[in-house]
Amino acid sequence: MYPSIAIKPVWKSIKATVKLTAIASMLVSSFSAFAEPVEIKFSHVVAENTPKGQMALKFKELVEQRLPGEYTVSVFPSSQLFGDNNELAALLLNDVQIVAPSLSKFERYTKKLQVFDLPFLFEDMAAVDRFQQSEEGQKLLNSMNRKGIVGLGYLHNGMKQFSAHAPLSTPADASGKKFRIMASDVIAAQFDAVKAIPVKKPFSEVFTLLQTRAIDGQENTWSNIYSMKFYEVQSHITESNHGVLDYMLVTSNTFWKSLPKDKREIIKKSLDEAIVLGNQIAAAKEGEDRQAILDSKRSELVSLTAVQRQQWVDSMKPVWTKFESQIGKDVIDAAQAANTQ
Ligand code: SIN
Repeated sequence: MYPSIAIKPVWKSIKATVKLTAIASMLVSSFSAFAEPVEIKFSHVVAENTPKGQMALKFKELVEQRLPGEYTVSVFPSSQLFGDNNELAALLLNDVQIVAPSLSKFERYTKKLQVFDLPFLFEDMAAVDRFQQSEEGQKLLNSMNRKGIVGLGYLHNGMKQFSAHAPLSTPADASGKKFRIMASDVIAAQFDAVKAIPVKKPFSEVFTLLQTRAIDGQENTWSNIYSMKFYEVQSHITESNHGVLDYMLVTSNTFWKSLPKDKREIIKKSLDEAIVLGNQIAAAKEGEDRQAILDSKRSELVSLTAVQRQQWVDSMKPVWTKFESQIGKDVIDAAQAANTQ
């Protein structure tokens, strides 16, 4: 038995400690009630009525619903905050926390993603999706980790088509013409292969370049050709489906690691769900935006015969060998295998 005289001071001090803890926790919670939510800036270069634009807005809705008062997402579409030339640098400086460049725009950070630019590699978007979800495709999400960039997921846009101020039915029709391209050496080689002149320019400049005829043509998806009104300043669109234009959602290592684990999981889950919606919109838009362009009668559709298509394939496919050592034969083989599954 301990004498009650010894228990009293101990009990008093416990009570005091409990009181202090309660006061401290009240203070903490009243401070956090006034604390500003963390702002996640999500910048992209396309319009809001596109798969990426809609995906970004869904992500905002989900994060703000699930982490109210703690996190907000500010979406900046149409190169309003950062454009093609500076969005990845801005990400690494933590001036923006999420960007989703097309897979062609990571060349400075990894050569492996160039696999997506190889002409006539993927038969359709289902093959692209199979490759992205495969072990090899998922590994590519980590291909820029050493540069401080974390791949969070892929997002579809669609297959690319050629457009120009003149009909392009055979590779000879492209010869000598200037085409705006994304900043990708593979795409440059693709146009070199048909004796055309590739011109690397940011997405935000394409409409004016086409309108002023500073360039003759470009390549893009139905969704981008429609949302950016390229079809209004291009007389012909060749339904070539010669390549893919998809995205990688990326953040910086620094930002991602700064998030508490439980919040990071909620943010990642929200992103995954927004991607599912974005992909559904992308699939629908391939048909819808194509039809809207045809209905507008501003631009004429050029359909390729099997022989003509084979001529494009034969001219452009040698590009694969040129980039095989940079990309890795294993990666190209895995991508090709996705066609036949
Ligand atoms: C994008 O879809 O993000 C832009 C594609 C392009 O630069 O052509």
